[in-house]
Amino acid sequence: MERLYTAVARLEKELAVSAILLQGIASRFQEAMTEGLAGRSSSLKMLPSFIGSPTGQEQGQVIAVDFGGTNVRVLLVELAGTGRSRIAVRRAFPLKDKLGHYDYTAVSASGPELFDFIAGKISEIVSDGGIYPLGYTFSFPCRQQGVDKAVLINWTKEIKTVGVESRDVGQMLQAALENRGLERVRLQAVINDTTGTLLTGAYSDPATTIGAICGTGHNSCYLESCHPLTKRPMIVNMESGNFDGVQQTKYDILLDQASEKPGAQRLEKMVSGQYLGELVRLIVGSLAVDGHISSGSERLSVPYSLPTEDISAILGDTSPELEVVAAVAAARWGITQLKVSGYKAIQTIVRLVAMRSARLVTATWAGVLSKIDPGLVRQHTIAVDGALYEKMPGYAEQLANTMVEIFGDKAKKITIRLSKDGSGIGAAIAAATVYKGKYCNER
Ligand code: GLC
Repeated sequence: MERLYTAVARLEKELAVSAILLQGIASRFQEAMTEGLAGRSSSLKMLPSFIGSPTGQEQGQVIAVDFGGTNVRVLLVELAGTGRSRIAVRRAFPLKDKLGHYDYTAVSASGPELFDFIAGKISEIVSDGGIYPLGYTFSFPCRQQGVDKAVLINWTKEIKTVGVESRDVGQMLQAALENRGLERVRLQAVINDTTGTLLTGAYSDPATTIGAICGTGHNSCYLESCHPLTKRPMIVNMESGNFDGVQQTKYDILLDQASEKPGAQRLEKMVSGQYLGELVRLIVGSLAVDGHISSGSERLSVPYSLPTEDISAILGDTSPELEVVAAVAAARWGITQLKVSGYKAIQTIVRLVAMRSARLVTATWAGVLSKIDPGLVRQHTIAVDGALYEKMPGYAEQLANTMVEIFGDKAKKITIRLSKDGSGIGAAIAAATVYKGKYCNER
């Protein structure tokens, strides 16, 4: 009992992000932004989007494809032009079949096969006749060469489909549509999901200056008021999941080294839903190895055996005997018959890992705000989407509280808000902006 208590106290120290650390991360983040924007070496890619803020008047029926992980969504979005939108049709489908019939995310799948599959899903929601503008959210690091041209730099989120890296994913999707005789569906814009989230927030709230995803992956973008390329306002996709200015613990290092791309996406591996469960498993595993808790079975050594939903369930367990924690530990790892103190230790580890994530993310946003508005003179809205923000108990509160810790009273100028379905709706807004521009030019 005593030893377990001491081990948990040590973990609390290791995973803490003190006020001083928050400040240090914020200022390193700010420096990395400046370096990346100037084209100098930086862990922040600072990718141009070629899109500025929307007017809120973008209008019409637009198809949106939202490709952000192993699930793809195809939507028909109606933009009212009054800052309001509605999803008229929504289809979601996995790229990896649960029964093992297909897997478009594996090395065995090729780019054309993947995009043909997506084009097939689009064909199911277009009715005959009419031209459909298409907005495409592709949530991986891309070298944007124009509003509808995005070259995949590298896959993230453990996707391995061959023949897509270094290719224009906009062109690949358009080609797949044309192969299916769907020339009527016309790609207008390829954006990152963070850009979509910012656009959706800004469609109804012009104070929105940061867009972020706190979900399976993590990344933020912001509105640069005078972009070096165009000298005009432009949304910049920072690919902040790759930020390397945060000290890793030994668990972060272990996770990173066993991952698909060691060294890459260091911040994302510390904060996003894809990895939080794995961090918890590594830490609980170390307690078992040290004899603090009895592991019960080999299953604790199976990588990625704790999904994010379980993290949320564990955080939400307020029962005196921690029944939910016990059920998860038994189901995932075969750990049974711990004392309540053992389950309490697991819950504490989950809380430490989840709250560290929220604190690190807030520090990066503080870095952005200090860069774009040093005295925090203006109002700022941070539009966020993703399961961690929306569903994880205590996560959104921790973001807001950490902002107050960093900025004190001035944090009143900052609103953090859910941008529900931001990546899909934002693709539609981006496409409508571009389509309207083209249409006006033709007349
Ligand atoms: C990963 C991707 C990034 C995306 C984020 C959230 O970090 O590299 O492009 O925005 O996940 O989905």
